[in-house]
Amino acid sequence: MLTHLYPILRPLLFKIDPEQAHGLTLSSLRTAHQLHLLPKSREASPVEFMGLPFANRVGLAAGLDKNGEYIDALAALGFGFIEVGTVTPRPQAGRDRPRLFRLTSSTALINRMGFPNHGAEVIAARLRARRFRGVLGVNIGKNADTPLESAVDDYVACYRVLAPLADYVAVNVSSPNTKDLRRLQQSDHLRPILEALLQEGAKLTQQSGRRIPLLAKISPDLSEEEISELAQLLIELRIDGVIATNTTVSRPAAVANREGVRADEQGGLSGAPVLDLSLRAIRTLKAVSQGRLTIVGVGGITRAADASAMRAAGADLVQVYTGLIYRGPALVNELIDATRVL
Ligand SMILES: Cc1cc2nc3c(=O)[nH]c(=O)nc-3n(C[C@H](O)[C@H](O)[C@H](O)COP(=O)(O)O)c2cc1C
Repeated sequence: MLTHLYPILRPLLFKIDPEQAHGLTLSSLRTAHQLHLLPKSREASPVEFMGLPFANRVGLAAGLDKNGEYIDALAALGFGFIEVGTVTPRPQAGRDRPRLFRLTSSTALINRMGFPNHGAEVIAARLRARRFRGVLGVNIGKNADTPLESAVDDYVACYRVLAPLADYVAVNVSSPNTKDLRRLQQSDHLRPILEALLQEGAKLTQQSGRRIPLLAKISPDLSEEEISELAQLLIELRIDGVIATNTTVSRPAAVANREGVRADEQGGLSGAPVLDLSLRAIRTLKAVSQGRLTIVGVGGITRAADASAMRAAGADLVQVYTGLIYRGPALVNELIDATRVL
């Protein structure tokens, strides 16, 4: 029902502040789920990556359920996997509002949220209480006031609290809204962070017998050479996968022309204009990794053909965020069908 309602509700939602609309939509979704009003989702088309069983190839990207408050309701939309976060060790408020902007004619958003979240401990309790038994990823980051030199401590702190409750952990080194975070993509920073997390992971495996795949989430603003170097590092360290990509700080000319000053808002651009950048990143990752990394394609998927293009470029799995804001829950089944294994 909600699936069919969204096209009717969207014009109303788009009249109010984007962050308020976001909260309203998610709490309505949760209520609809609790009242059993959500339709049955598609039958599974199972695939296995990184040793994990995915019901289908379509996941929810990080940032939509930052605090793990809506996992079960979002799962009811049919997602094959859900990524919560970005979570930081300590709770933080994020950047000042307004910090989320619609670029409607471009099917895009600009955000400078800056990781507002309830902190690792509170979110861990929510993960423990979830009913969803599908693949659950946790995306981790560092607090805004943690100096770059101590970033590794923040990632390790999050990992210790959250990894035991997750199916995979995504290391976010690509958000443009935490000062200098993207510098952590450079191998002199990234290597020690990943090595420390692998060490934590090995301890966890020893205790629990379960291996928790580790993925790195990268920016679309890296050059092909930088992406290629980063992929080589991930392969050398035997990292399981890569999520490509986060939002872009670039402003493609078409967006700037169409949106005027709105395109000048500071922050990361997501949605349709990111697709080409993400596809380029995925092609590079695929060429370098030759199957040694699981590739999660994200950025600009707003219709079935975009998901097919991601698959053709080399993505094993896909994720979506902005497309959902514009197209509503019906998009999930559309993408599941487009990426179904025959
Ligand atoms: C409002 C908003 C908040 C986001 N927050 C996060 C975040 O906390 N962590 C993260 O890794 N990515 C975050 N992202 C990036 C998305 O996960 C995704 O990588 C990006 O938006 C590109 O996909 P899309 O075009 O389907 O939105 C956020 C995106 C948006 C629009």
